[in-house]
Amino acid sequence: MRLRYVDADARTLDTPLLAVGVTEAADPASGLLADLDGALGGAVLRALEAGDMKGKAGDETLLYGAGGGPARVVLLGLGKAAKVDTEKVRRMAGRAVRTAERLRLESVAIALDPIDGVAREAVAQAAAEGAGLAAWRFTELKAEDEDDPTVTVRTADLVGSADPDGYSQGALIGAAIARGENLARTLQSRPGNVATPTHLADEAVRMAGSVGLDATIFDEERMRDEGMLALLSVSRGSEEEARFIILEHRGGAEGDAPLVLVGKGLTFDAGGISLKPAAGMEEMKYDMSGGAAVIGAMQAIAELGLKINVVGLVPSSENLPDGRATKPGDVIGSLAGKTIEVINTDAEGRLILADALTWGSRLNPAAMVDCATLTGSVVIALGHHAAAVLGNDDDLIAELRAAGEASGERCWQLPLWDEYRKQLDSPTADLQNVGGRPGGSITAAAFLKEFVGEAKWAHLDIAGTAWGDGKLPYQRKGALGFPTRLLVEWVRSRAG
Ligand code: BES
Ligand code: MN
Ligand code: ZN
Repeated sequence: MRLRYVDADARTLDTPLLAVGVTEAADPASGLLADLDGALGGAVLRALEAGDMKGKAGDETLLYGAGGGPARVVLLGLGKAAKVDTEKVRRMAGRAVRTAERLRLESVAIALDPIDGVAREAVAQAAAEGAGLAAWRFTELKAEDEDDPTVTVRTADLVGSADPDGYSQGALIGAAIARGENLARTLQSRPGNVATPTHLADEAVRMAGSVGLDATIFDEERMRDEGMLALLSVSRGSEEEARFIILEHRGGAEGDAPLVLVGKGLTFDAGGISLKPAAGMEEMKYDMSGGAAVIGAMQAIAELGLKINVVGLVPSSENLPDGRATKPGDVIGSLAGKTIEVINTDAEGRLILADALTWGSRLNPAAMVDCATLTGSVVIALGHHAAAVLGNDDDLIAELRAAGEASGERCWQLPLWDEYRKQLDSPTADLQNVGGRPGGSITAAAFLKEFVGEAKWAHLDIAGTAWGDGKLPYQRKGALGFPTRLLVEWVRSRAG
């Protein structure tokens, strides 16, 4: 989608559809509402007086222009003025795009000035995110259907004049973040026979070339040379080779400690020898969502030219059963040198992450954050509205929680007390890969913690948030791109 900020008077804008947010206490006698009311021959006031548009979240009224300005105006309720925040703006922009889709219009304009109470730059950023995310569709594997009534909205103009500098800056930021998250969603949506580890690596290299990141890809031979035995143990049952993807953004001073982002890139999780049940197994193509989010976030970080060093790491493999596959009871090695008893081959995410986290910790990062569709139990703990965040540094966790609120991709802390580590004691190896049912998301994080060395580190369990119904106006069913926005917001907060 083409997203741009336009410094203009929304009243006279030549657009097929102008979306205007209306709060519950909005005064129809002032500002843009009054101006539009004049331009539309009193239609705004009549809609408000009729009680059709009360400004409640979800209220929606479509009006028609009289020529010389917007052909249509859609009033979108924002709820109570005091409760308007960036997430409300993101959703409103998503609704604007959905309205255009329904009317089969390829472009839409969104008025920024009526939304006050939130910083102007943040309004433009959230509007750009909401519109850019809403317009995304995954159509590449379907024949074009002439009868399909769905149109793709191709242009969103963000219009206003209250703060041109803030608006144009915010629009650029939001557009880059939406592009990054949409890349993640596209990669997530591709099935396991398309999005193999090699494919993810190829896409990462291509993306890196287009935005000026450095990309390095390890094949299995290189992994063996380095000693990435835990990652290789997961890949043993696959015909498809594993890949280890390294993306580097050098936006800071040379030698400055980087931030490290790690994402689980498990392109299909059948469970291995500890085979999963058939029902719903097709969804396990989204087990690479963490890796997709890291690739998408790295694209946005590069496009925004953030003045900070960032390294993205994506260990990528399949997890399939086979005569050569790792078996329950096998003891494997790891890059860190620790031995691991594999009790359940379906707890594979922590194995591929272990080597990636060890690699990341050897870069002496300022901080390291991983994201992974790691456990079913996080869905039991938090449902689909927040990721779990756990780690060894409370300040880092607080930063991630704040980035979650700012981005609308929220996370909530679970404890990682030493007591949980005992559940991973193994009679035969340094530790085992599962800790039983109690606190499943916590013991998974306790496992990861063994491999982060001295790094300040936090882990996001995104099994409940990366994929879903897509009920929000800027989402669609399936790939949600979570936590691309959270990661970029966190890096932005560090870049100052
Ligand atoms: N990829 C799964 C976790 C998952 C579950 C992601 C549901 C998305 C939705 C992970 O590899 C896994 O299988 N975890 C096991 C761990 C168990 C064997 C300790 C789980 O959660 O059941
Ligand atoms: Mn698994
Ligand atoms: Zn998995």
